[in-house]
Amino acid sequence: MKRRSLGLATRAIHGDPKARADWTAVAPPLFQSSTFTNPVGSSAEVLYSRYGNNPNQVNIGRRLALLEGAEAALFVASGMGAAALAHLAVLRPGDHLLSSEWIYGGVYRLFTQEFGRLGIDVSFVNPTQTRTWKQAMKKNTRAVFLETPTNPVMRVIDLEPIATLCKAEGLAMIVDSTFASPVNLRPLEHGADIVIHSATKYLNGHTDVIAGAVVGTEQVVEEVRRLMQVWGQALDPFAAWLIERGLKTLAVRVARHNATGLALAQWCDAQKAFTQVHYPGLPQHPDHDVAKRVLDGGFGGMLGLELKGGVRAAERFLRALTIPAHAPSLGGAETLVSEPRLTSHAAMTPAQRAQAGIPDGFLRFSLGLEDPDDLIADFAQALARL
Ligand SMILES: Cc1ncc(COP(=O)(O)O)c(C=O)c1O
Repeated sequence: MKRRSLGLATRAIHGDPKARADWTAVAPPLFQSSTFTNPVGSSAEVLYSRYGNNPNQVNIGRRLALLEGAEAALFVASGMGAAALAHLAVLRPGDHLLSSEWIYGGVYRLFTQEFGRLGIDVSFVNPTQTRTWKQAMKKNTRAVFLETPTNPVMRVIDLEPIATLCKAEGLAMIVDSTFASPVNLRPLEHGADIVIHSATKYLNGHTDVIAGAVVGTEQVVEEVRRLMQVWGQALDPFAAWLIERGLKTLAVRVARHNATGLALAQWCDAQKAFTQVHYPGLPQHPDHDVAKRVLDGGFGGMLGLELKGGVRAAERFLRALTIPAHAPSLGGAETLVSEPRLTSHAAMTPAQRAQAGIPDGFLRFSLGLEDPDDLIADFAQALARL
């Protein structure tokens, strides 16, 4: 009988259960050690936690590769570190990077403030039209970068036509899949070459770690590892241990985020106080059909809301809410709410934000693991106090 491949939840918990030896701890030990002994006279690479070869670091890299269906994966010190190193692994001075204009503000700053100094030219396109990607390519374009679902308006990009274009032109396609997690989307299955994550978010899931990850071929991940070592981007072993613990519940956590996301989006959509509800699971969302096709786990736990009355109404609503914590970031057990104009997109001008569909007063919710009925009741009492 042909052996069925293991499901994502099983892989997230066990990695490869066949590899488990007798008489070993079921919960992995923490190797909180910067260095390890090595045999006298050996020329093999020494074990040193900055090299990313501490067992805690190695375990989570293997685990994520299994979840994304990749040859290899490597965790680094932050999502920003992952974004920087993934690009440095494939770009050289004189190259051009074509990026989606709808990306996390920190990555936008990396591209606009730092890449020029390295001789890497970056330009931005609206990511929803394959034609605009093709038109914006230059002779020296070497890589394409995009984020999906996008932060914070939750546009879902159809990766396959862009991947086909990248293959034809010989370009590396890099996708930031932080918002989806491998439960909802595995970009390599849709033709991407490299996936990055802010593991600070869903992969860890408990709002207590800053980390990033790069996923791809052995060759790309080896180059990222080399850069990580010399640029000092390794992840601390305890952070790696916490991520391994977080990964064990990734599938159930994201299933709950998906269910709560849909429930809250549908409820908000029925309230007159909201002028826009940004959630790809709603039929009127511009990418609902793409989302149904590519987000095979669910539509996620991120929700964008616009209130009648703009910034002032948004601030009154925020003050009246009791369960969501007013804080940046996402993907944890606690519901968080933030205003992109003051957080993730603060580096953009109001005009750039308006062009990206983020008017002032836009609220971004990361729905947590609380009882959905409690969140709905809290939203209702806050609306009643507007
Ligand atoms: C989509 C996305 N990519 C990358 C990052 C950067 O990750 P980190 O804060 O772990 O450096 C973030 C952080 O909010 C993000 O939302």
